[in-house]
Amino acid sequence: DRKLRAQLYEVNALATKLYNHILMNHPAGAQGLSYLLERGLTKKTIAQFQLGYSPANGRDLVQFLRKRGFSVDLIVQAGLGLISSDGELFDRFRNRVMFPIADLQGRTIGFGARTLTGDDPKYINTQETPIFRKGNILYGYALARQGIRKTGKAVLLEGYMDVIALHQHGITHAIASLGTALTTEQAAILRRAVADEVILLYDGDSAGQKATQKSIEILRDMDIPIRVAQMPQDVDPDEAIRKQGVDAFRSDVLDKAVSALEYQLIQLTHKHPQHMTTDRIDYLRDAISILALEESSIEREAMAEWLSKTYAISLAALKDDLNTQVRLKS
Ligand code: GTP
Ligand code: MN
Ligand code: MN
Ligand code: MN
Ligand code: MN
Repeated sequence: DRKLRAQLYEVNALATKLYNHILMNHPAGAQGLSYLLERGLTKKTIAQFQLGYSPANGRDLVQFLRKRGFSVDLIVQAGLGLISSDGELFDRFRNRVMFPIADLQGRTIGFGARTLTGDDPKYINTQETPIFRKGNILYGYALARQGIRKTGKAVLLEGYMDVIALHQHGITHAIASLGTALTTEQAAILRRAVADEVILLYDGDSAGQKATQKSIEILRDMDIPIRVAQMPQDVDPDEAIRKQGVDAFRSDVLDKAVSALEYQLIQLTHKHPQHMTTDRIDYLRDAISILALEESSIEREAMAEWLSKTYAISLAALKDDLNTQVRLKS
């Protein structure tokens, strides 16, 4: 199926170009362009990420592609066109800002598409195709590759706009898993690319916290070193950079990233709001089960000492319980 795949790359590349052309030069894309500029993107950034706009009329792309000789079948297979009930081919994406999603080499393999009108869903994606599988791509990877190599790190985010905002502000080792927790395939890409560590930075809402927990487990299973940075409640990295500027974002968020273990112990305090008083023993019991999952005895020891100090309990007692649990696990 090499020929089919080659055609799918070709048709996606052309769609990327047309959508970008419409966004930058055409009245049908004007609303999209002012939206992106209002969100603080520069034209240079828009060009770098090849953002685009899919017009409302629902015909421009498929007509363009048909004229270039692509078959109806291929356009449908690529996820760029749909057949209506009366048998007519029309554009799959209409009236949305287009985010081309590239493979590791930077070739467009699919799109994310954002509504400007508050439609539900906010984003739609290309469905699975022979070249597009959501589970094995990381948004922005091809553009981040150099930054990842240079720093030895990758900042793993949730969304398109987060990646784009960080890159625009010079944080070029930023990528995203696109709204889901990490898959093992995505983690495998990171394991090959990242020499030092992955910094997890998901949104501050409860969905983001859940995804962080899940991603910690996957990365830890694959022995990938991580730290976790945290957003203040209900702000995402893109908004934070716009509000406080990139320097504050670096010092208040990125530089304050903690170990996965510390993150989990902090999260646990939310589950036990009275952890300093009436819930102290409960909290410590749960904390020890989390510690027992940590493979590094140095990390375990360091956090046990911290718990001992913070919760005024003897280190010997903590270690006693901890060692029992570690033995039970192995
Ligand atoms: P903006 O509102 O444009 O700033 O987007 P965001 O990236 O902040 O969105 P959000 O935090 O809600 O979601 C994070 C990421 O999850 C998005 O960038 C998308 O990749 C994905 N996502 C969000 N909503 C949807 C949806 O309704 N459908 C799909 N398929 N993906 C979504
Ligand atoms: Mn979110
Ligand atoms: Mn956002
Ligand atoms: Mn977000
Ligand atoms: Mn409790």
